[in-house]
Amino acid sequence: MKETVPSTTTHLTEDPETAAAFVKRGEVVAFPTETVYGLGGAYNNPNAIASIFAAKSRPADNPLIVHIAALHQLDDLVKTIPPGANQLIEAFFPGPLTLIFQRNSTVPDLVTAGLDTVAIRMPAHRLARTFIDACDVPVAAPSANRSGRPSPTSWQDVYTDLKGRIPCILKGGLSDVGIESTVVDCTSSEPLVLRAGGITLEALQEIAPTTSLYKDKMTGPARSPGMKYRHYAPKAAVSLVEEPTYVPADQSIAYIGRTPHPFPEQLGLHLHCSDTAAYAYELFRFFRRSDRAGIQQVFCQTVTREGLGTALMDRLEKAAAR
Ligand code: TXA
Ligand code: MG
Repeated sequence: MKETVPSTTTHLTEDPETAAAFVKRGEVVAFPTETVYGLGGAYNNPNAIASIFAAKSRPADNPLIVHIAALHQLDDLVKTIPPGANQLIEAFFPGPLTLIFQRNSTVPDLVTAGLDTVAIRMPAHRLARTFIDACDVPVAAPSANRSGRPSPTSWQDVYTDLKGRIPCILKGGLSDVGIESTVVDCTSSEPLVLRAGGITLEALQEIAPTTSLYKDKMTGPARSPGMKYRHYAPKAAVSLVEEPTYVPADQSIAYIGRTPHPFPEQLGLHLHCSDTAAYAYELFRFFRRSDRAGIQQVFCQTVTREGLGTALMDRLEKAAAR
């Protein structure tokens, strides 16, 4: 893709007010959330939104999530909130859940990629909400990685991808969840999960029993535009294995999974995760570490598609797809 981003100094700060001042000037800021880091700008400033797409080299037909700090900010963004969706808001906002509604005309086409719907999320991360609040307007933000790269779960990962391409990074700690939010379409009578993520299908069904996975229901074109792109991949080849015994012991190889490899010291990198949540927490950072270590092939153990395992398998399969 053609380079269109002029080089800029990337300011690092831990102060949400300093970071928000960039957004108020129409500039963009990378900020921490409990899922992954986001790259945000004022949702109603088309120049800021254009800068986000340019910094990431993101295809223009992939809409952004609008992040809010308080529920009253929904009023300006959406037409109506269906009753079922209200229950999901009560149960899971703030948190790793994104809900899709019919949008108001205040939301620019650039944010929604021309769709008549808008995706909304209220992060649980304290610093994220303080920052969004200080921006005075909702903050439109995709994950803060270069397009196609694993989502960043530390400010250092953002710096690696976007140094010199964005003016500011709000530094926080490591993202608690490590994979992105669950995206749920609330525009029809039954909630539909378009992207599995930090809130599990089982948890959603406890509140809204008719919730289903889009993947289970339909074939045909992707309803969430972002799902059609290759994602989450390190430079190394990614292969999925059921058991680590299939993984060749070699220094050019990395392995991550729930079962330890029989000869971990013979591998270039080895990470044993105690459960699915720990696996999700580590995965994207492990991909990036593998690249830094010059690993040729990353083997990932598959997990059962239940709980967080559904979202984890989605990321693993996308990373392995070439
Ligand atoms: O956890 C997260 O969701 C992170 C943090 C920063 O909030 N954000 C994130 O954004 O992962 P992004 O842009 O990488 O992924 C957003 C996904 C994409 O698959 C996009 O296509 C979908 O949400 N999306 C956004 N607006 C949509 C809409 N109106 N209809 C359907 N899908 C939408
Ligand atoms: Mg992303």
